[in-house]
Amino acid sequence: MNHIVCLLPGDGIGPEVTTAAREVIDASGVDVEWVVLPVGTTALEFCGSVLPARTLAAIEGHGLALKGPTTTPVGSGHPSINVELRKRLNLFAAVRPVRSLPGIKTRFDNVDLIIVRENTEGLYSGIENEVVEGVVQSLKIATTKGCSRIARFAFDYAASRNRKKITVFHKANIMKMSDGLFLRCARKVQSQYADRIEYDEMIIDNGCMQLVRDPSKFDVLLLENLYGDIVSDLAAGLVGGLGVVPGANFGKSCAVFEAVHGSAPDIARQGIANPLACIMSGVMLLNYVGETAAATKIRNAYDHVLQEANPETLTPDIGGTGTTQSFTEAIIRALM
Ligand code: NAI
Repeated sequence: MNHIVCLLPGDGIGPEVTTAAREVIDASGVDVEWVVLPVGTTALEFCGSVLPARTLAAIEGHGLALKGPTTTPVGSGHPSINVELRKRLNLFAAVRPVRSLPGIKTRFDNVDLIIVRENTEGLYSGIENEVVEGVVQSLKIATTKGCSRIARFAFDYAASRNRKKITVFHKANIMKMSDGLFLRCARKVQSQYADRIEYDEMIIDNGCMQLVRDPSKFDVLLLENLYGDIVSDLAAGLVGGLGVVPGANFGKSCAVFEAVHGSAPDIARQGIANPLACIMSGVMLLNYVGETAAATKIRNAYDHVLQEANPETLTPDIGGTGTTQSFTEAIIRALM
């Protein structure tokens, strides 16, 4: 079956890693028609907008995208394209599987987490204003609809993958109303799954400490937007860094797959970006569209390449001396 997938290369290392993912997916034998679309600062140059209307319309129309990271200027400049994209397409749930990988040595070899992040509300919305000179306020939005929706998604997702436990990280001791609402909604949904899924809550500062001490205590983490953003990077650090953690953003009618990492301007255009997180996001996409055989084939191929641990193949972030290209080519060879 032919799948039409929007491909958004994005900024920085985005074009490098999305090209790698495309090559690997094509080599797996799946019939994908790629619709390449502009997004990010590159799009601004050529289309006058960081998120051109035709890019949004195409994702809405096809319902499926593989996206590279996009740069968001710090402290000024245009607002985040990701925040805008998630709001406009109502991509309310981010899912980031974080697992220990063969051949990548870290302090733990038994990490197997799924992070479920609310994607549209919270402080992360970036709703800020200057009340008077020298006084700025930033709004944290929480709605019963948004909190219940992400809780239902997390429990459904966990149940469908036979996961045993959901832990909510929160700060409801301080943000009693907003995080309090998040907790109340999670508890309400949890009551319908009490026979199947264990439920726990942790104040986020303690949760982070527990997570870096013993990640095996956790299974699925459910977090509001900003906490999910930060804890995703923290968890990536447990398994080898941002180069090896994929992600997906789900809405009712659209899904956008993208790695957790950003545009990594420090290594852009050097040919050394780790393509694995983007390739793994592509594997999530293939599973989502029912191409499970191809998804498994690619997963086995990169597991094999990692297991071989040939430094000439792997990128520097995971201990190699290789390049984006050498890693990608090794995965493609392992598919054959
Ligand atoms: P970053 O994730 O781009 O980089 C953090 C560190 O990880 C850097 O040292 C980088 O070299 C390294 N790294 C990241 N991905 C890598 C890969 N695939 N292979 C090897 N090393 C990798 O985060 P940073 O520097 O905070 O943000 C840079 C830009 O990316 C910012 O403009 C930020 O807003 C944007 N960003 C975009 C995201 C998206 O589009 N989904 C997500 C996160 C950040």
